[in-house]
Amino acid sequence: MTVKPHVFVDRKLPEPVRAYLAEHCELDIWEEEDTVPRDELNRRLADAEGYMTSGRRIDDGLLESAPRLRAVSTVSVGYNHFDVDAMKRRGVVGTHTPEVLDETVADLVFALMLGTARRVAELDAYVRSGNWKRGDGEGLFGIDVHHATLGIIGMGRIGEAVARRAALGFGMKVQYYNRSCKAEAEQAYGAEYKAMDELLATSDFVVLMTPLTPATKGLIGAREFGLMKRSAIFVNASRGATVDEPALVNALRSGAIRAAGLDVFDKEPLPGDHPLASLPNTLLLPHIGSATAKTRDDMAMLAAKNLVAALRGEASPYLVPEFKS
Ligand code: DGY
Repeated sequence: MTVKPHVFVDRKLPEPVRAYLAEHCELDIWEEEDTVPRDELNRRLADAEGYMTSGRRIDDGLLESAPRLRAVSTVSVGYNHFDVDAMKRRGVVGTHTPEVLDETVADLVFALMLGTARRVAELDAYVRSGNWKRGDGEGLFGIDVHHATLGIIGMGRIGEAVARRAALGFGMKVQYYNRSCKAEAEQAYGAEYKAMDELLATSDFVVLMTPLTPATKGLIGAREFGLMKRSAIFVNASRGATVDEPALVNALRSGAIRAAGLDVFDKEPLPGDHPLASLPNTLLLPHIGSATAKTRDDMAMLAAKNLVAALRGEASPYLVPEFKS
């Protein structure tokens, strides 16, 4: 009889995912609503060979308490919480969940674009407050999304899903900045490659979709906001740390840009007294890019399969790129 690997999962799971993992692993799940406290995590990882998480920092400190660990599976496409070097030094591989969430996150990017352009949350609050009067006129005006120019920074799969909606659904002109050119997106959506500064200066909507890496930390700051049109709307659905948040607050306050739609923040959860929360020209969401029931279930199942495959030493397309060699 083969011994099943011991796996710890730090969040509740949909039943089919729990059943799949239970079939292949000795399963230990943290079922509480609150995040597992660090000392409890250390205890649970003491014997674990696999760990399934979503956003827990995997660094030397954690790996120290998990001497048998061989694989960490994150239920997210982003894996900036992995200290890849520390994991490699200890022979621990990491997997993630791209693809299954692309369309769902692209929908949310559009919600942020439409919501900021047409001031949806602000005007919802206005109606609810009972202040709606006939003849309010241009005080309620927004700007058009259709046929505007969209600049996408980070043209990965999600960026391409945004470009498709923009070009084919909204008749937008799409331009993008990326490490490499995307010939297919250029052909299918008429997307034009632009140098970053030119993209910033000529876009009506600037959508940031780049992963957080040392190279993209603070990518958009005072200089970049200064290059944008005063009428531009900035959307961030990547990671908060790709943006210099104090510079964003200044840009929104001073009118250097028109508005911002944000699903991600430097510090999450965003404190209620954060300056961004006091600005009328922001639309703020609690990092829900992939948060539909179906997509989150699909991500959890993919993460479970990734973990089992990694523990078996199978080559997986969902190993994070740094572990593929
Ligand atoms: C991810 O999976 O990394 C995204 O942040 C989902 O919202």
